[in-house]
Amino acid sequence: MSRTLDHSRLERLLREEEEKFHVEHQVSYGLYQRALQSMQGGVPMLWMIRWAGTFPVFVKEAKGARFTDVDGRSYIDFCLGDTGAMTGHAPDATLAAMNAQAAKGITLMLPTEDSIWVGEELQRRFGLKYWQFTLTATDANRFAIRMARHITGRSKILVFNYCYHGSVDETFITLDEEGTPGSRHGNLGPSVNPVETTKVIEFNDIPALETALSAKDVAVVLAEPVMTNIGIIHPDPGYHESLREITRCNGTLLIIDETHTLCTSPGGYTGKHNLHPDFLTCGKSLAGGIPAGVYGFSQEVADAFWDKLELDQSDVGGIGGTLAGNALSVAAMRATLEHVLTPPMYERCEKLADRYEEGVLESIKTFDLPWIVKRLGFRVEYWFRQTPPRNGGEANAAVDCVLDRFMHLWALNRGILMTPFHNMALISADTTEAEVDYHTKVFSEAAQALVG
Ligand SMILES: Cc1ncc(COP(=O)(O)O)c(C=O)c1O
Repeated sequence: MSRTLDHSRLERLLREEEEKFHVEHQVSYGLYQRALQSMQGGVPMLWMIRWAGTFPVFVKEAKGARFTDVDGRSYIDFCLGDTGAMTGHAPDATLAAMNAQAAKGITLMLPTEDSIWVGEELQRRFGLKYWQFTLTATDANRFAIRMARHITGRSKILVFNYCYHGSVDETFITLDEEGTPGSRHGNLGPSVNPVETTKVIEFNDIPALETALSAKDVAVVLAEPVMTNIGIIHPDPGYHESLREITRCNGTLLIIDETHTLCTSPGGYTGKHNLHPDFLTCGKSLAGGIPAGVYGFSQEVADAFWDKLELDQSDVGGIGGTLAGNALSVAAMRATLEHVLTPPMYERCEKLADRYEEGVLESIKTFDLPWIVKRLGFRVEYWFRQTPPRNGGEANAAVDCVLDRFMHLWALNRGILMTPFHNMALISADTTEAEVDYHTKVFSEAAQALVG
């Protein structure tokens, strides 16, 4: 039986870390005070106030797996822009291609030859025939959903409890404790109640999927192949085969969102596990951090869509983006796919993730903590519970906000940035063994402080 933590001790430790943070980040604090006068919450986007410090750290510069802040402090970055910088910050090959392209034009509303190279490479990696480019993964999901509705003539979509696929209106729906669907807590100004547009069920629940699709009113299921946004939740053995079969039987299309699971292999989880979705969406790291998203679809989807498309109306059909497919993003995507997100990079990152996982597990054992580690490719995270959750509802129930905040701030105060909304670390192309070992040391010291 492993130990339980003393929460009053935890609260006291958190206050000490907050004071330490404040004292050591005076320049950031000054900028924050100034920022409050022109940006709501003192940040460019509101989610940037959700970091563990009492104000945001302002960045001076970043390269590879590290960045420095305006107070001159250096950090190992395991957050990596929540996957946007999985390539390492400012990768040389991407930078060179961007600089070359920027000097020759950034956005034209006309294609460049690079786009064909990227389309062919995505075909090779993910197995889907046709590709379109956006600026974000959110838009890739939105447009795939629109295509699915247009083709099937059905109005609803289906998502999994506590999923996240970007700011896609239809996805902000959760199940309450009685299993009743409703607007997700915190959903801001929804255009309609998402219960009207969306069915929501738990991940790994096959009977619920069968029931939800049997009414034959669902155009498409939108799924991460492994849930990553309420922590890592793996599919049960055989789950993906059932998902594919049940969607097909009911005339429902399937979108697999690989935005985070691209850390599994160069072809994502789909490539590694031989999945056959109708659509695949991705974004974030594809262009080394330059805004770029993609959505791909099968020949059957393309044929059905083309038959129902009025080409002269295609610019006002709700699938768009003036800067989408711009020459700069496309050049950055080509260079990143060709030179950075390569098989040798994946091999190297996997080995480092093994090392990270082993280090954390060893400390958990040493301090007899009721915690586990979850792993997906070179994404690793620790959980403050003893068994892995099978779905989003179980995962959400296990969240300990105070402990999360303490672990993040302890790490931040010692030069480590973790992904803010859970305890996830991503390894980048430039992360080193010494950086992984430093994290193990800091994690172990946090555990020691907690148990006293
Ligand atoms: C699985 C998944 N899909 C899509 C997105 C949206 O990405 P973006 O905010 O870059 O559009 C996210 C963002 O976290 C995500 O986790």
